[in-house]
Amino acid sequence: MRIDVLTLFPEMFETPLSYSILKRAQEQNIVEIVLSNIRDFATDSYRKVDDKPYGGGAGMVMMCQPVFDCFEHVQKQSPETGRVILMSPQGQTLTHDKAVELSREKRLTLIAGRYEGFDERIRTGLGAEQISIGDYVLSGGELAAMVLIDAVVRLLDGALGDEDSAAHDSFSDGLLEYPHYTRPEEFRGMTVPEILLSGHHGNIEKWRKQQQIERTKQWRPDVYEKYLKAQQKKQDS
Ligand code: ADE
Repeated sequence: MRIDVLTLFPEMFETPLSYSILKRAQEQNIVEIVLSNIRDFATDSYRKVDDKPYGGGAGMVMMCQPVFDCFEHVQKQSPETGRVILMSPQGQTLTHDKAVELSREKRLTLIAGRYEGFDERIRTGLGAEQISIGDYVLSGGELAAMVLIDAVVRLLDGALGDEDSAAHDSFSDGLLEYPHYTRPEEFRGMTVPEILLSGHHGNIEKWRKQQQIERTKQWRPDVYEKYLKAQQKKQDS
């Protein structure tokens, strides 16, 4: 997969992209992440990328021209067009299902904005969809783009080593994860559930599933409702 990121702050991405799974996935050519600075495509001597909104109002708006020129510059670098995504609190919320859907693409182009927002013609003219990482407003789309990249890249084939697996992640089967324990058996009076020490794999599996169900019911009733509906649909078909 190739991921292009169009941003005014490419340096913000350097640290998150150079550790752990994201680092390894790039080294192993599972993903190529290309950062482009929108400001490099500004044409005036102040390198201006934003302007006052038509009709008045607070804040500044990101201008079309530098974003379009930056986009066209990177699009030419690879034959795939892929999906174009504006990071925006107005978008659809990023979920596990959305991350899985995006992980099946050959190319993603993420546009991270600053200021009040983008000139509307950036969304319409580039045929971009909008994705939000939650119902709150960040100072810019960069952190949201990093969250999306992390959620998608860990799902790519080979991105996780044998020791970590996405198969048991929360949400992958529609439920939260079961609780984990490691040595010692007792820490400050807190013990590991007996069943995990029993060596009985069948019972352990049953216990873990039960824990997943109970935790999801208690902590995320919205996720549990969705799980029940999916189970019902499976039974009906
Ligand atoms: N930009 C600002 N806030 C955002 C959010 N919640 N999600 C995605 N991009 C954003």
